[in-house]
Amino acid sequence: GGVDQKKRFDVARQRCGETTRERGRTEKEAWEDHQAKKARVRFGSKDKKQVCDGFEFVFDEVASFVETSSEMETEKEESRTVAERGKEDRKMLPIYAYRDELLKLVEENQVLVIVGETGSGKTTQIPQYLQEAGYTKRGKIGCTQPRRVAAMSVASRVAQELGVKLGHEVGYSIRFEDCTSEKTVIKYMTDGMLLRELLIEPKLDSYSVIIVDEAHERTVSTDILFGLVKDLAKFRPDLRLIISSATLEAKKFSEYFDSARIYMIPGRRYPVEKLFQKCPEPDRLETAVRTVFQIHQTEPLGDVLVFLTGQEEIETAETKLKERMNDLGSKSSEIIICPIYSNLPTELQAKVFDPAPKGSRKVVLATNIAETSLTIDGIRYVVDPGYCKINSYNPKTGMESLLETPISKASAEQRAGRSGRTGPGKCFRLYNVKDLEATTIPEVQRANLASVVLTLKSLGIDDVFNFDFMDHPPESSLLKALELLYALGALDGKGEITKLGERMVEFPVDPMLSKMIVGSEKYKCSAEIVTIAAMLSTGSSVFYRPSRNQQYLADNARMNFYTDKAGDHIALLRVYNSWKEMNYSSQWCYENYIQSKSMRRARDIREQLAGLLKKIGVELTSNADDLDAVKKAILAGFFPHAAKLQKDGSYRRVREPQMVYVHPSSGLFGESPKKWLVYHELVLTTKEYMRHITEMKPEWLVEIAPHYYKLKDIEETQPKKTQSRRSRSTRSPMAKVETNKKAKR
Ligand code: CDP
Ligand code: MG
Repeated sequence: GGVDQKKRFDVARQRCGETTRERGRTEKEAWEDHQAKKARVRFGSKDKKQVCDGFEFVFDEVASFVETSSEMETEKEESRTVAERGKEDRKMLPIYAYRDELLKLVEENQVLVIVGETGSGKTTQIPQYLQEAGYTKRGKIGCTQPRRVAAMSVASRVAQELGVKLGHEVGYSIRFEDCTSEKTVIKYMTDGMLLRELLIEPKLDSYSVIIVDEAHERTVSTDILFGLVKDLAKFRPDLRLIISSATLEAKKFSEYFDSARIYMIPGRRYPVEKLFQKCPEPDRLETAVRTVFQIHQTEPLGDVLVFLTGQEEIETAETKLKERMNDLGSKSSEIIICPIYSNLPTELQAKVFDPAPKGSRKVVLATNIAETSLTIDGIRYVVDPGYCKINSYNPKTGMESLLETPISKASAEQRAGRSGRTGPGKCFRLYNVKDLEATTIPEVQRANLASVVLTLKSLGIDDVFNFDFMDHPPESSLLKALELLYALGALDGKGEITKLGERMVEFPVDPMLSKMIVGSEKYKCSAEIVTIAAMLSTGSSVFYRPSRNQQYLADNARMNFYTDKAGDHIALLRVYNSWKEMNYSSQWCYENYIQSKSMRRARDIREQLAGLLKKIGVELTSNADDLDAVKKAILAGFFPHAAKLQKDGSYRRVREPQMVYVHPSSGLFGESPKKWLVYHELVLTTKEYMRHITEMKPEWLVEIAPHYYKLKDIEETQPKKTQSRRSRSTRSPMAKVETNKKAKR
């Protein structure tokens, strides 16, 4: 129990103290140690424990980390300019001491695996060192990030450090947003964007160095990049490859890259007290909010970082925090709330890095993005509810959804470590770390692979089963991807990419969506379809739903776009067209409870999609009066997402025995149910919900996808489930082609 843990803590603390002493402690360290001890006493002894909400934390363990660098971060002086400060700050980073050694290793090794504590300066510094060493004379330095926000914010930081305008020498490229120019020599980009660049520039000739950063994240795109750049290195002896990771998977990376050299950058970390909640409570969000206040009321100043699963949780937490501040009569100047998640508007993203004004405390509400991708200075406390959202895919059914899942032990460690970067920290865990799995399964083993398989095929990689995956995806996933691409017409019966497939690849969206876009040509409604596609790609809802008393007004406003109850796709089209008629007015958005930011983004995306259509030779044609044509074009891409109403009011996917339900956010929710629907995507919360749905006619299924649906699928009697599915899978020639290929191998 508590005593044991305290003992463990003391032992660990002693150990930490001793080692530090061996290396000679600075005064500041000693002071920090003292402060940490003081805090421990206050938290550790029962009678003095201040528990504002009647729930308590117990000590978990204390990891003893030792300062390995003698430099200390100095107090920031207000008088220095940003650029001056930038230069000096750069030298303060742990990586600075290893600059020359690192450059030498890059020179000598074509492939280098770099491991370093998060925040040590890998992402922001290495590209600058390489530029200083002259690598940019031979070509660009590309650095990939799994997350768009990271790509943007790191690029902007580096531009700032170099004193250049973002988009000039330093730029970034993320889907639907290219902030680079002719001048750009340091280019940050999402891993997905580099994959797309490979389609245009297979040998990446314009690059001298590729850094695959945050490799430990193991996103599908990063994993595919591994295979492609490894191969590319053989053809381009001059190209340098750096695989950079925050965790100790280095060995695995090294082995994969033919025993590449590993370089560890010793980090700087302070002890982190890890506390966990004795009796975890079911309402994670509420507990997290209460913990923030507990910290605020009982702990010394220092910023708080709270890990939440997504935008929705972050917004709820923000509201709750504000309400509670009012209830407690706190001054709002005491707590500065800073949300950070991928869809947060750019100008607000930068705010999270601003230091809190004197005497106040910054509370950062972040998604997984703050785990390793982004380092926010000044964090002393971490509140970790222990969950994140991951992609989950069932290759048997082809169902894909975002799932809230417990994080891994490795993630828990990373999260805790965020509090101990510039001084001793504390991590409040709302769970017991013993209940966690050691590591997360790589995304490639739990994701829909249709999009990457199409990319690979377009790159001329025919045999996807034999692709050099670091971890192999399940064969069923690859097969399912091939089958879908075949059904969409992107691959032919031999598994080779078709003309249609090549046209689809041009669009940086999922195959079903790109098929919908390309397919619209046939129905002469490409203008409407690119609008719908853009509106579906903004990443956040266009409908604004205020809290409480104004909600019915917003809901009423929204129903104006559902006049004929055709569905959500059509409503999105109407919203866009009405906005356009009003000259893209923000005032109009405001009056109609529409998010003008999402609309501007949709307009931007639409322009790009229209440009790509032009590129593949499709004129924008409008067929606004023929809604059936629009629906058919949607179905041309999304026919696998057809659902039929059941007697009990639920829906069943036509070709799979899955039950699915209308999402409450749909304009058709609570309306008299339509018999046949096509949906855009599934979201799994308590049930599998269909998001963005539109009514359709069953006969269209056989008309549009005769190879996929047979008449009996749309007949009134229900097909026998398992049997009919089995006979179908043999109907697909893809299975045969690929099994033959395998037999040959
Ligand atoms: O990549 P790694 O985790 O090793 O570190 P980094 O991202 O290069 O961060 C180095 C330093 O830059 C940290 O002190 C960050 O706080 C700072 N940084 C920042 O202030 N703003 C950003 N947008 C990115 C990094
Ligand atoms: Mg980094």
